[in-house]
Amino acid sequence: MSSPTTSARNFRDYIPLYDEFDYTVDDFDGALPEGLRGTMYRNGPGKLEAGGQQLGHLFDGDGMLSMFALDEGGLRFRNRFVRTKHYRHSLGAKGAPYRALGTMRPGGILTNALQFPANVANTSVAMHAGKLLALWEGGRPTELDPDTLDTLGVHDFDGGLKWIGAFSAHPKWDTTTGEMYNFGLAMFPRPKLACYRVDRAGTLRSLGHLNLPVPMFNHDMGLTAKHLVFVVAPLVFPVGKMTGAGLGLRNFIEAIEYDAARGTMIALVPRDGGRPRILHTDPLMHLHLANTYEDGSDTVIELVNYDATWEQLNGQLRGLQDGLTDTALSYGGKLMRLRVTPTGRVIHETLSDLQGDFPMFNWARTGQRHRYVYLAVGADGNRYPNAIAKIDNETGKESLHRLPEEHFTHEALFVSRPRPISEDDGWLLVVTQDRVSELASMLILDARDIEAEPVYRGRLRHHLPLTFHGTFTQRVARP
Ligand SMILES: [Fe+2]
Repeated sequence: MSSPTTSARNFRDYIPLYDEFDYTVDDFDGALPEGLRGTMYRNGPGKLEAGGQQLGHLFDGDGMLSMFALDEGGLRFRNRFVRTKHYRHSLGAKGAPYRALGTMRPGGILTNALQFPANVANTSVAMHAGKLLALWEGGRPTELDPDTLDTLGVHDFDGGLKWIGAFSAHPKWDTTTGEMYNFGLAMFPRPKLACYRVDRAGTLRSLGHLNLPVPMFNHDMGLTAKHLVFVVAPLVFPVGKMTGAGLGLRNFIEAIEYDAARGTMIALVPRDGGRPRILHTDPLMHLHLANTYEDGSDTVIELVNYDATWEQLNGQLRGLQDGLTDTALSYGGKLMRLRVTPTGRVIHETLSDLQGDFPMFNWARTGQRHRYVYLAVGADGNRYPNAIAKIDNETGKESLHRLPEEHFTHEALFVSRPRPISEDDGWLLVVTQDRVSELASMLILDARDIEAEPVYRGRLRHHLPLTFHGTFTQRVARP
């Protein structure tokens, strides 16, 4: 285990960004590559405050979309908060207007009992069937206008999402059919993952569900030619703690427990919704999968494994949130490959000793064997992500794009060249932040050679709180 990282300054990585901007970036080096035209959207908590109350967890802040439109005129930036009920009520409230995952409302049990966390639409963003959707795994998507980022309202796929309608933040696309697959976590009347397919036209169909043995937390999924792939870490909501959370005695984040004895559950759910194949393996602690694919009769899963408990991982998140210097772990986990054989063996292989998260790959390879994975890494034991790594699964080569001292990076998004000649023939769009000047930039790296200087660096006029996930569309947002 790494020793605690110390720093002379107590940086605040999560400074709220209350202002909403719309401008063309005029301070830049290099040029936008020919062939890179379209729009990157990103989502993350834009403010960790509601009604003057500091929110309790990084996962609780109001979702704010940022938009980076690239065309002949250059790079245009726009940001808008998602006008959820939580956001709207937070503006005039005294204290948090609703409970959130890690935040209690003022007023004790009376105001918190039997209250679900509010949908803050802050985790990811997807563009599907012409709709731009802000995603949050505990509830329904929120639709926004892809040009103005105006909030259009909650989207339930014409009533396809029932009741709470959880629709996770990590859908996957079949690149041949254009279908989007996703799941939603449901706790009542029994714990399960509801599975969905949304066709190209945006029509949602249920693919049945995967029963969970007890209430558990799951964040991501994979898609292969045959299966929806779930790797469920032993993160459980014990009955006593869950009851306490429901009654308003503790927050929901504190109700999660890492139960290593349970091991990690792998479920391969047939894409037509047939009976899932369930396996168990040694306990892993992960949030994100990279790619998954069928390799002959094996199923291969890549994920980022933390050699840590939930409390330790949560400590890392808290360190990022508060700019703490006392977090005991350096940032991130290690890229790992699981190979599920027909006999039910699960072979574990660590692919790199780099520590990072936010795995990215060329999404055109979804469900097929891929060669490259990109990660936001904490190089040299850093406690926040300060470099982008490229890991070559064929040669084992690792290359790093290190940021200057005291800069951190958001997730890197891979965008393919229009007619690519190799899997890495494209660019990485990387938002970074200088923690000293508190100004953000967008870098464009040539994905074939990420160690080289960025081909473009556009400096924003302000900071940008760390975003979680993003997406890219070739459609250029209109000014
Ligand atoms: Fe995520």
